[in-house]
Amino acid sequence: MELGRRVPNDVTWSDAPAERPSCETIAGVTEQNPPLAESPFLLACRRQPVPYTPVWYMRQAGRSLPEYRRTRGGMPMLKACTIPDVITEITLQPMRRYPVDAAILFSDIVVPLRAVGLDIDIKPGVGPVLGEPIRTERDLARLRPLEPSDVSYITEAVTALVKELGPRPLIGFAGGPFTLASYLIEGGPSKGHDRTKSLMYGNPALWHALLGKLADIAIGFLQVQVAAGASAVQLFDSWAGAVSPEDYQAGVLPHSTRIFDALEGAGVPRIHFGVTAGELLGMMSEAGADVVGVDWRVPLDEAVRRVQARTALQGNLDPAILLAPWEVIERRARDVIGRGRTAEGHVFNLGHGVLPDTNPDVLARLTELVHEVSAREPAG
Ligand code: CP3
Repeated sequence: MELGRRVPNDVTWSDAPAERPSCETIAGVTEQNPPLAESPFLLACRRQPVPYTPVWYMRQAGRSLPEYRRTRGGMPMLKACTIPDVITEITLQPMRRYPVDAAILFSDIVVPLRAVGLDIDIKPGVGPVLGEPIRTERDLARLRPLEPSDVSYITEAVTALVKELGPRPLIGFAGGPFTLASYLIEGGPSKGHDRTKSLMYGNPALWHALLGKLADIAIGFLQVQVAAGASAVQLFDSWAGAVSPEDYQAGVLPHSTRIFDALEGAGVPRIHFGVTAGELLGMMSEAGADVVGVDWRVPLDEAVRRVQARTALQGNLDPAILLAPWEVIERRARDVIGRGRTAEGHVFNLGHGVLPDTNPDVLARLTELVHEVSAREPAG
């Protein structure tokens, strides 16, 4: 079968899903399952009727899982992100534990930056750190465009994963322009993003040149994943909420819009997520997102009023609630599901990533609860 041998950019949504083989390596996946295109996750993203509210969790793979810690061992994060077998194994780990409705590729938003030659690393307990920050016109020359061959390990891992997952969708992702710019300008994680914002206010020409290059890299990274078979993409502009709506509109939105426009022809649902981005939700949908990811600060029924029509929502249980007693978790999850019903489509998720101290058994129970509570009567 041709599967996975496609070269970048030749994939279309209509021809991709039906021919995917199912496989029995993951519990519950058999020939009888409906095709990928009818997976509840993709139906909800397209605002079509679903049998139940689909669910996946940001950071569902990772430090909350003992098997993840074993697989990683002492291997540096960015090394792990370049080994197809490791990427595949870690991506599949939560799929074996939880009946979640989608997998998300194990990678990181800084992987393509390292792939184009930047001296960037992920320090445990700290986050991405850049040897020499990018702050001048001259520094920009260090950012070259991403070629598919720079990330051949991603193509290989996504191809293998799509085969393994059968009818369960794989979500690809990239870092949003503001968030990537912040790591490059600050040289590491930052609370207030002060240098980033001062460059945005003080040198718009350099700012737009930088974000233009980062948007190109994000487009290239997403296209590689879609060409290899990813069924949806999420743009993580996690820190974009640091700027005012007016500044977002002028400084960030044009670049995010270009990313979503470039993916339009790919035919896969496009998800746009930010943290503390309540005031930006309207523009985040306007950028061209099919689905807007909401953190826990804005109730979903309010988020419905803020996004454009024909937008599905994803979210938004506070990840810290998972550390509370089950009665609290259940009550809050039911509330999220209820408010999610006011959206044209709803994908249940947390408002941000799974916290490392989360008990995996709680996530398993939550996944079942969401499916049960949200189950719709069969039509007709
Ligand atoms: O959601 C998933 O499960 C997919 C994998 C994923 C990772 N990073 C794996 C990872 C995704 C989607 C990301 C995106 C990412 N990376 C974002 C956007 C999402 C968000 O959290 O807002 C950001 C801001 C980063 C940058 C980054 N990478 C940070 C802040 C950290 C944490 C550093 C630390 O040790 O506290 C990382 C490292 C990272 N990325 C880990 C994982 C599983 C932890 C590495 C480890 O296990 O040691």
